[in-house]
Amino acid sequence: MSQLLQNAQENLNANGFLDLEVDPTLDLIQEIEKLKKEKNAIILAHYYQESEIQDIADYIGDSLGLAQQAANTDADIIVFAGVHFMAETAKMLNPSKKVLLPDLKAGCSLADSCPAPIFAKFKEKHPDHVVVSYINCTADLKTLTDVCCTSTNAKAIIDSIPEDKPIIFAPDKNLGAYLNKVTGRDMILWNGSCMVHEIFSQEKIVKLKERHPDALLIAHPECEAHLLDMADHVGSTSSLLRFTAESTAKEFIVATEVGIIHQMEKANPEKTFIPAPPNNTCACNECPHMKRNTMEKLYLCMKHELPEIHLQEKQIVEGRKCIDRMLEVSAKAGF
Ligand code: 13P
Ligand code: SF4
Repeated sequence: MSQLLQNAQENLNANGFLDLEVDPTLDLIQEIEKLKKEKNAIILAHYYQESEIQDIADYIGDSLGLAQQAANTDADIIVFAGVHFMAETAKMLNPSKKVLLPDLKAGCSLADSCPAPIFAKFKEKHPDHVVVSYINCTADLKTLTDVCCTSTNAKAIIDSIPEDKPIIFAPDKNLGAYLNKVTGRDMILWNGSCMVHEIFSQEKIVKLKERHPDALLIAHPECEAHLLDMADHVGSTSSLLRFTAESTAKEFIVATEVGIIHQMEKANPEKTFIPAPPNNTCACNECPHMKRNTMEKLYLCMKHELPEIHLQEKQIVEGRKCIDRMLEVSAKAGF
């Protein structure tokens, strides 16, 4: 092993990725395709990944689709172009397979907002409650969860719980409030949120709608209630994508992470997609965690099979139960 590779491996946890130079003349698309075949590896990418990564992925989808693909793949290596909790979920579903994540520091503000030890104390105070957690949470939180959900199947999951059973919903208070509204439940909500979906400016969106009176506002349920109330369609990333294809409208204001617009434009070249403006001047509707993954890191992680996701036995055995339960209820509901 070269000294440079050895150094990069020693600093892997501190950096989150293999910090090695990549020859700028390399055709990364070709190299990654080659590695996929050589290693029988599959690349699963979330819609929020940069366009080049989406284009080289074997499957692009929302959190539910990605978990379903991870559960059913024949590949020996799952390369997860997404964030940490997604790669952990893939590992729980496929503990014997190697799961790689191009950058271990690709986290999630929602997952961070609900530390398992604090949640465990909170849960003790409500022993009769069923715990439903959004899949955007850590492996440790999943061990404290009865059933997981994603934004695609959340309503079906909650509807599957008997009406007289009280529920704690973690960690997203915005998705939780939206679900309370559409299911008529009164779930106790953990006070977490997504840094990307809370950044949209209602004032700027109202002005934008005045300039584009025919544009429809579409929003992810991780957005705040005042924004969801004014949206023409609320749904998960896959639901938003489907809506833009099925709608006769020609213009859409998109209130979710901008990465999804790549697939919207590909599927509907004649339509216009305007990213919902954030309440400041930076590109804050880009998820900084999702965007930590780059083509260079993807190539390096496939070449050297690092960084790899490792979980403790307890996290796999206990954490997996709520994901299996979700997939079961979800399949019955037709997802
Ligand atoms: P979905 O793709 O399931 O809608 O989730 C969005 C998200 O925030 C993922 O981190
Ligand atoms: Fe987490 Fe929000 Fe980024 Fe999704 S967009 S990974 S919920 S911080």
